[in-house]
Amino acid sequence: MRKLDRYNRRDFLGVATGAIAGLITASLAIPAVAYIVGPALRKNETEEWILLGSTSKVEIGTPTLFKTKIERQTGWILNVTELSVYALTEDGRRYVVMSNTCTHLGCRVRWIADQNQFFCPCHNAAFDKEGLVVSGPPPRPLDRYEVKVEDDLLFVRGA
Ligand code: FES
Repeated sequence: MRKLDRYNRRDFLGVATGAIAGLITASLAIPAVAYIVGPALRKNETEEWILLGSTSKVEIGTPTLFKTKIERQTGWILNVTELSVYALTEDGRRYVVMSNTCTHLGCRVRWIADQNQFFCPCHNAAFDKEGLVVSGPPPRPLDRYEVKVEDDLLFVRGA
């Protein structure tokens, strides 16, 4: 009888040790697997709507610069990037939002109100206020974003 108790105690200790080792392994493995697989399961960031700001900031007929920060989680790493775009409206209802990145080699364009054009200083390119190429080497107009307005707030998608 005493021999049987010892045998059962030994079995119990073996099972308990195995269970504790299993818990420790799982507590290390689950975060590691989530880190590796998580980003692949996450929704595509280009589907997110990004808030730019109030539509009241956009002066009719004049491209208006908006800057906003975008936070994206990749695994355990949080990346923060800045998005700079120009919003244009001619009627206060429909909006066009354009990238401020030149379509030639990626320099930043800026709005020159006196000349009613965007100017790229890298190779002296010019775009009209709709983003169409006026002069210089850019192969295409400024890129545009999908836009929506909700409660007088301007959002873009596709950044
Ligand atoms: S990068 Fe803008 S004109 Fe070359």
